[in-house]
Amino acid sequence: MIKDKVVVITGASSGMGAAAARHLAAKGANVVLGARRSDRIDALAAEITEAGGKAVAVTTDVTRREDLRTLVDTAVETYGRIDVLINNAGVMPLSPLDRLKIDEWDQMIDVNLKGVLYGIAAALPYMKAQKSGHIINLSSVAGHKLFGGSAVYSATKSGVRALSGGLREEVAADNIRVTIISPGAVKTELHDHISEKDIQQANREFAAKIAVPAETFDRLVASPSVNPRTSASTRSSSDRRPRNSDI
Ligand SMILES: NC(=O)c1ccc[n+]([C@@H]2O[C@H](COP(=O)([O-])OP(=O)(O)OC[C@H]3O[C@@H](n4cnc5c(N)ncnc54)[C@H](OP(=O)(O)O)[C@@H]3O)[C@@H](O)[C@H]2O)c1
Repeated sequence: MIKDKVVVITGASSGMGAAAARHLAAKGANVVLGARRSDRIDALAAEITEAGGKAVAVTTDVTRREDLRTLVDTAVETYGRIDVLINNAGVMPLSPLDRLKIDEWDQMIDVNLKGVLYGIAAALPYMKAQKSGHIINLSSVAGHKLFGGSAVYSATKSGVRALSGGLREEVAADNIRVTIISPGAVKTELHDHISEKDIQQANREFAAKIAVPAETFDRLVASPSVNPRTSASTRSSSDRRPRNSDI
């Protein structure tokens, strides 16, 4: 069922986005890779193509709405349509609020929340015209549960839950599905960008005990793409994770 689907993935240069791209391309999807680090996504697109898959890379900063438009437009120009948008790009520079890392608050809101909205804005007109599509947004356990030091990150990820639920209600009649995925701890580069060294160390130690490999994300992404009727996308106003989720 994934074969020949056109899947746009933001944050495809590392971690779960890159793992999802490899997995979906190996299953026959045409993947369109967006991230700021062009060298990484160009190399990944070349790797996928050399392995017999189909991939294009488009340098994308999700805080720039025109970049998202170019990313999605490229998918449609190259492959004729967009079936799935995975709004995966995210940042997590955790710190307690009283450290006043206000630029980092702005960055989390711009990437994690506004970036998702810009992705939706770019894809929705095409999906509505097609009368089909699937938008998968990355929330987090932190979007459901609060932890000290993650107030702003949690706010962005619970914001993703809220806007996904609202969108789901609005677009169901257009045969567009909306799913959130809420991973727990996953071994990726996400912790590398925590600027407060004590917080970074504590999170690394915690993650070392419980984090699962980024490749675990494969199944989470592939399953709702293959089988949206069994995923959270069809549970109106529901945030429950897909039944086959194991993280
Ligand atoms: N790892 C976890 O434990 C965990 C748990 C729950 C949820 N999540 C969520 O999962 C998603 C993927 O994160 P990950 O764990 O795979 O971390 P990661 O390896 O750090 O990947 C994050 C991706 O986001 C991209 N990104 C960051 N800022 C961007 C921007 N302005 N424009 C475009 N792309 C941007 C990065 O690419 P460039 O730097 O090249 O732009 C990178 O590809 C995030 O939304 C994260 O919040 C992660």
